[in-house]
Amino acid sequence: MRIGILNGGGDCAGLNAVTRAVVRKSDQYGYEVIGIRHGWAGLINSATVPLKWNDVSHIINQGGTILHTTRTNPFKTKEGPEQVLRNVKQLGLDALVAVGGEDTLSVAAKLSQLGLKVVGVPKTIDNDIVIADMTFGFDTAVNVTVEAIDRIQTTAESHERIMVVEVMGRHAGWIAAYAGIASGANMTLVPEKPFDIEEICDFLKKRHDAEKVTSIVVVGEGCTLKDYTTTDQGKVDEFGHVRLGGIGEILAREIEKRVGIESRAVVLGHVVRGGSPTAYDRILATRLGVAAVEAIKNQTYGVMVCLRGNVMSKVPIIDILGKMKNLDAETIALLDDFRD
Ligand code: F6P
Repeated sequence: MRIGILNGGGDCAGLNAVTRAVVRKSDQYGYEVIGIRHGWAGLINSATVPLKWNDVSHIINQGGTILHTTRTNPFKTKEGPEQVLRNVKQLGLDALVAVGGEDTLSVAAKLSQLGLKVVGVPKTIDNDIVIADMTFGFDTAVNVTVEAIDRIQTTAESHERIMVVEVMGRHAGWIAAYAGIASGANMTLVPEKPFDIEEICDFLKKRHDAEKVTSIVVVGEGCTLKDYTTTDQGKVDEFGHVRLGGIGEILAREIEKRVGIESRAVVLGHVVRGGSPTAYDRILATRLGVAAVEAIKNQTYGVMVCLRGNVMSKVPIIDILGKMKNLDAETIALLDDFRD
């Protein structure tokens, strides 16, 4: 049995831990593993690397991905899917493990319908994949964000400023919400709950009138404000996603103007995606890698392995497509309860 493994979409901490687990579990069963480089692009131009036991030594703690990644969508061209299937055959791959977010998994699902034997592994710092209770990369992103906010808090206090911290997460507010709650931010704004600038500034004005010297506002990059443009116009990836960003700077400018307190924006961006995974993410990624190899051993294809409760589960990949796991009501209520 020869298994291919690829990482597609934005990287996140824990990808190497999955690769390591797939290689090591496969080795136990006598399977060979081939790493596909640059996501789906590596199956269009056959960019591969053999992965043996020693090749994955000491990578469980490494951020990024040794396989590298792109946002390539083979279905963007007419010949793309055929090229992938042809190359899978030429490389002698009996099965493929596709590690990625909804975009990568949507390609896996379509190729599965065309006969590819594929198992999906969900990854994203955004934690927005439905059915998967938790995706690896998220815990690391939250912990790095909390550490950054703790540091921002002390400089904010020294200068008696309002700091607006913009974090990734696309249209789901998981990173903003968890980091906001865990860091004790004064206000956390998430895409799931629309807000207006008046409401934000009233709240901050009252705080500072009550002699608080500083405020921390956490904002998810997918948040929008009526009458303000926050995305880079015209830039979309191969899956049609706009590049988000800019809400932090807009908020800081408006807050300073309306509240009269010096306000600065910090965009944490890719910082929280890089670096070493937390122990939680290393273990989740390891469990998922093992579950993917087990699925292949059992010849269960077209499925995504994922964490449900604390159990490794399998669901048809098509069940997760076109949906987004947004913040639940309980978490949104926590944000309101701890606004102070
Ligand atoms: O989906 C993961 C993610 O990190 C989002 O949170 C963010 O909007 C996007 O990827 C950024 O992508 P890129 O690395 O292409 O800028």
